Amino acid sequence: MATLTDSAQADSDQDFSRLPHLPADVFTAPLKRPEHVGEDWLEPKQTEYDSEDDAIWDDLFARQMKVLPGRAASAFMEGTEKLDLGRGGVPEFGTLSEELDKLTGWSVVPVPMLIPDHVFFWHLANRRFPAGNFIRTRETFDYIQEPDVFHDVFGHVPMLTDPVYADYMQEYGRAGWKAMRYNRLKALGALYWYTVEFGLLLEAPGDIRAYGAGILSGPTEVVYATEAQSPNRIMLNVDRVMRTDYVISDLQPTYFVIESFEDLYRQTVERDFDKLYRSLGPGFTYANTAVIDVDYVVNEGTLEYTLRGGRGSGADAV
Ligand SMILES: [Fe+2]
Repeated sequence: MATLTDSAQADSDQDFSRLPHLPADVFTAPLKRPEHVGEDWLEPKQTEYDSEDDAIWDDLFARQMKVLPGRAASAFMEGTEKLDLGRGGVPEFGTLSEELDKLTGWSVVPVPMLIPDHVFFWHLANRRFPAGNFIRTRETFDYIQEPDVFHDVFGHVPMLTDPVYADYMQEYGRAGWKAMRYNRLKALGALYWYTVEFGLLLEAPGDIRAYGAGILSGPTEVVYATEAQSPNRIMLNVDRVMRTDYVISDLQPTYFVIESFEDLYRQTVERDFDKLYRSLGPGFTYANTAVIDVDYVVNEGTLEYTLRGGRGSGADAV
């Protein structure tokens, strides 16, 4: 039987250069690997986008730039400028990676679709960000199910220019190994959801900004998440967040707020996850609408949007 010492030993011995072994008893989404990609799930090359694809990127970019100033974290806005994401058309990953490498040592690599958790962790642990190798169409301009190059590159990559956030993402990838060993991917997934995808930052007193890619890559949620009366905004507590359920295809009833990226790094990387994983149950403890007694609440929401039925009900988000 494995002991704590064995586990600590395994962590320090972990070779992050090699693709991790996925234990047979670990549940992950059953994804069928396309024949043209290898075990790393990397596309041999980036799609050659045509002028209509480039126009879709430009229109999405322009739409976001109308709503993001004053609502997106300053680090994100600075990242879009440092990487010149508005230069026109879908960014070429080679050039983008060269620029990002100079800033924080990260690169962007094309993948065909959502990839298995253990492969995703492996790329992050090696400072490679996997991004979709396709762009949405005009028909799916407002909402797509699978993350495309706009969500992945515009939404995620600017934050990777921030040195502390860049380190957090790498550590998240490394933490995936441990979560797999404890069969706690669901809990680690909730942390990703409430930080990397839907995280808010208290940039100055009373000034809530978004840094999560799920918020920043669409026009509605950035206004809803930062300004609407409906959602709860609660200071991030990792133990609590890893026990909290989340909504996949609608606006969130609750967002978690960090004080700074250093705060996020400290709360996660310096946390004793072995102890936490042993204390977690197999499912989530808290509903995504709940405010509980340990919460430090920034705004308690009316939950009106969620209670009226959310997307498709006619309820106004903002
Ligand atoms: Fe994402």
